[in-house]
Amino acid sequence: MNILGIESSCDETAAAVVRDDGVVLSDVVASQIDVHGPYGGVVPELASRAHLAHVVPVIEQAVRVLPRGFADLDGIAVTHGPGLVGALLVGLSAAKAIAWSRDLPIVGVNHLIGHLLAVYLRRGEDTPPVPLQMPYIAMLASGGHTALYRVDGPDDIEQLGETRDDAAGEAFDKVSKLLGLGYPGGPIVDKLAALGDPKAVPLPMPMRNKHGLEFSFSGLKTAVAQHVARNGLPADDKARADLCASFQRVVVTSLVDKSLAACKRERVTRLVLGGGVAANRGLRALAAERCNKAGVELFVPPLASCTDNAAMIAYAGAQRLARGERDALELSVFSTSPQLRSRLRAAAQQPAEGG
Ligand code: KG4
Ligand code: ZN
Repeated sequence: MNILGIESSCDETAAAVVRDDGVVLSDVVASQIDVHGPYGGVVPELASRAHLAHVVPVIEQAVRVLPRGFADLDGIAVTHGPGLVGALLVGLSAAKAIAWSRDLPIVGVNHLIGHLLAVYLRRGEDTPPVPLQMPYIAMLASGGHTALYRVDGPDDIEQLGETRDDAAGEAFDKVSKLLGLGYPGGPIVDKLAALGDPKAVPLPMPMRNKHGLEFSFSGLKTAVAQHVARNGLPADDKARADLCASFQRVVVTSLVDKSLAACKRERVTRLVLGGGVAANRGLRALAAERCNKAGVELFVPPLASCTDNAAMIAYAGAQRLARGERDALELSVFSTSPQLRSRLRAAAQQPAEGG
């Protein structure tokens, strides 16, 4: 089965063709970094317009890998939430038009479920299936989300905790903007942090040993802003690298602490990292070290599978299609899938833990 995936929830217009066994046949991503860079963050209206410009060429390029093009497709999977509504509508409209004109089944995919299953993507015919059994704990950290999940099946996913305020990637982006380093901030801060002393600037560790599996990063961002207000912007490369290293150490320690706390609480010994922040070298190194000590098996997908892409949407959609599920062409923009919604509602009704 060849599935066309389409993703346009934020600032990447992406299309991919993936087989139902997870082999990625094509994976095209048109990034809008140049569009949003000058503003230090994503501007929704500009994102929608850039998606409109890119969506058709990106899909055409992805489908070109098939000998008979669109005629070799068996289904379409499209992100229908969560995300920027105007941006989502562009991908959704394109997907519906193709499904209608080619008489193909279509399924809407929750962007987060795409990220959570991306670990199973096989980049190359010769890549063996990923030896990861369920259940596993997944830590998803991107520009828009930071949360922990327990994954028992492609449609049996429970959110265990999330950030109370900023997402981890957002914190990287805001600190980078504050220091005048550029956008997106994660890769820039990551690079500088490798050259600095992570203990140089004392910063508060958020939610340490409290609030269960929840995160918080806005206080940390404020602490960096206060440090700059007191001491001025770092005067040289060394001071800049030290501040980046100190900030990054706190973020990645918090992410790893809570991920391992989730593994312990759920008695699960498999941990998957996902989302753009999973590209962070400090996070990867600390997670590897701490998982090794704790006897937890760590899975970190290749970078192209961690950041926003349409291959993960195609794969998650293929699971739904394989179960015989179909969505009607009336499919609209939803922020959360029905399964995840009911799980979240159940979770919200439980008394808060921690203190
Ligand atoms: O998953 P993603 O591509 O898009 C969504 O936000 O959904 O994640 C982008 C985020 C940005 O905030 C970016 O700064 C962050 O991931 N990021 C990183 C790194 N690479 C990307 N954060 C820390 N270290 C990195 N190396
Ligand atoms: Zn994402």
